[in-house]
Amino acid sequence: MEPIKGFSKLSKEGKIEWLINAYFNGDSTVIERLKSYWHADGKVQKLHDEFIENTITNFYLPLGVAPNFNINGKLFCIPMAIEESSVVAACAKSATFWLERGGFKTSIISTKKVGHVHFSWSGDYEELNSWFDEHKQSFVDGTSELTSNMRARGGGITNLQLINKTELDEGYYQLMAEFQTADAMGANFINSCLEEFSKILESGLDVSELEGELEVIMCILSNYTPECLVRAEVSCPISELNVDPGISPEEFANKFVRAIKIATIEPYRATTHNKGIMNGIDAVILATGNDFRAVEACAHTYASRDGQYRSLTSARVEDDTFTFWIEIPLAVGTVGGLTGLHPTVKFCHELLGNPNAEQLMQIIAAAGLAQNFGAVRSLVTTGIQKGHMKMHLLNILNQLEATEQEKITIQKAFETKVVSHKAVVDAFCKLRGVNNP
Ligand code: MEV
Repeated sequence: MEPIKGFSKLSKEGKIEWLINAYFNGDSTVIERLKSYWHADGKVQKLHDEFIENTITNFYLPLGVAPNFNINGKLFCIPMAIEESSVVAACAKSATFWLERGGFKTSIISTKKVGHVHFSWSGDYEELNSWFDEHKQSFVDGTSELTSNMRARGGGITNLQLINKTELDEGYYQLMAEFQTADAMGANFINSCLEEFSKILESGLDVSELEGELEVIMCILSNYTPECLVRAEVSCPISELNVDPGISPEEFANKFVRAIKIATIEPYRATTHNKGIMNGIDAVILATGNDFRAVEACAHTYASRDGQYRSLTSARVEDDTFTFWIEIPLAVGTVGGLTGLHPTVKFCHELLGNPNAEQLMQIIAAAGLAQNFGAVRSLVTTGIQKGHMKMHLLNILNQLEATEQEKITIQKAFETKVVSHKAVVDAFCKLRGVNNP
């Protein structure tokens, strides 16, 4: 097959036609398959087409909701966009469990964001440092037009620092800037400021008396925002931890705390443990039109901040009280980006009462904590597969193209049986009276 030139210039139909010829042997039914996911309203579809480049169709994910979240005394129904069965159920179950035990207490610890101009300087550090101290204000003044809207919203540049990184690499320096970005995630704002800083740095050093060569390597925000931090916590008397008839509240509390300790000291477990937390967090991040890759990258760097990858949640038992909490950096926005454009994202913000960025951080942290509580609760009691496979049963039946009646019959039959792929296929074949392939 030949590579294609000018693909991006083709119309949407032209792109699909090329794909069909290049990868589907000219099978024209493919266009119908793709078109069946186009939105019926052409205007809405155009909006989706224009979110990215080379759009050919939409990629559906289910949007579920987890009701009954009591967060600081207010009830929320949290929207979650995710493909994995049992995540929404686990989150909702935890929300209801904690609803009756005081709910989630959340707070913002800090909201700082950072970015860097990474550059090389061949001259003397002390001289550069004094020059920078003298000219710091010119960086603030030179970006005042860019920052005026943000300043009006209570944000802006809060600190500028020259950082000597020459111990890591010869001649390597950073101009590190700290920002407050109000309700915006702030990526465009930060990157625009950084690019302006680099111009000011270049032109300032050019006319200075300093001896040395400057080369700006790059200007970019950091997705590592350890000081854009939120905390969510649940706690109750141990006696109220009656989660399962097979385990006493004391035994549950101790096993739970031990499970969190294992995730804190053992990276193999920590990775899966934090993956479970991110099941909850990413689902809300996605539903609210935020950048889940940025949040993921940041969460995992934060989880390794002391040099070892560890659990993002903590738990303790003290004076007959069980406390379970998360502290996690979440750089999210409630204005800008997709938030005002994507119709379903807009709906999700409305469902949450149009929170500001700080409120959304707290809602997301609560969802992550709830998700982790649900997973660890299952792990230390019944095991994860019981609940997971019950939810997965429907996926297996859909794969087998079971009818609605067949689904009802088989789901009923598995109410008291262990679900496994083989057991479901066997039951399905028996019901249809066909041989098991
Ligand atoms: C599955 O998506 C997530 C879990 O593995 C998380 C965990 O083990 O804590 C259930």
